Amino acid sequence: MDAVELHWHEHAVTRQEREQLNGHKGCVVWLTGLSACGKSTIANLIDHKLHARGVRSFVLDGDNVRHGLNASPEILRKDHSEAFAQRFGLGFSPEDREENIRRVGAVAKLFCEAGLIAITAFISPYRADRDRVRASLAPGDFIEVYVNTPLEICEQRDPKGLYKKARAGLLKGFTGIDDPYEPPLRPELVLEGAVYPPEQLADQVILYLESTGKIPPARKN
Ligand code: ADX
Repeated sequence: MDAVELHWHEHAVTRQEREQLNGHKGCVVWLTGLSACGKSTIANLIDHKLHARGVRSFVLDGDNVRHGLNASPEILRKDHSEAFAQRFGLGFSPEDREENIRRVGAVAKLFCEAGLIAITAFISPYRADRDRVRASLAPGDFIEVYVNTPLEICEQRDPKGLYKKARAGLLKGFTGIDDPYEPPLRPELVLEGAVYPPEQLADQVILYLESTGKIPPARKN
């Protein structure tokens, strides 16, 4: 039998080709704001609305990602050595938050290159860390969305009781209490988290994506 020769063609599928197939552009919707400001709720609503319209999106959420890619030393210790857990596990020191955002930024960029819409929901309290992610992407691909919910409201909500712990001194370095939150200076969007319901805030993001041509306009029935 003749030998079959297979030749691999080095033709990378371009981002444009992927976007054409998907019927929309890739981008990163980066939600930032205090713990309990509404980031995750809004992110998931945006995700549902996009999905319903046939847009391919995915939510990267702090609480979930910190169980996997950015697991804490406590989680890593279960399957890895102590030295490994110490070296690669992430907590909430300034350096660990920086690395958390760096890794998430890199993942979100991959989503964007795949022609998908990554919606991230991380406190991402430090301006420099967010600006580095912005700089890693093409102009227009990083949509910074500041979920502006006052600290008092976040503290009243306190769904995990962490603000209470932080106030009692049982949790050190909590954002907004004894660790800083640096609001964006020129975000693409500001969502007033204490004024409008999450549903309306998600719609504001969808409108922005439409108006900037990231997604096609909604079909009228
Ligand atoms: S970030 O600062 O590195 O962007 P991220 O969004 O991943 O934070 O995780 C925030 C979540 O971790 C909070 O909603 C809260 O549930 C929990 N958390 C635990 N410790 C802290 C802390 N010291 N500061 C802020 N959030 C904390």
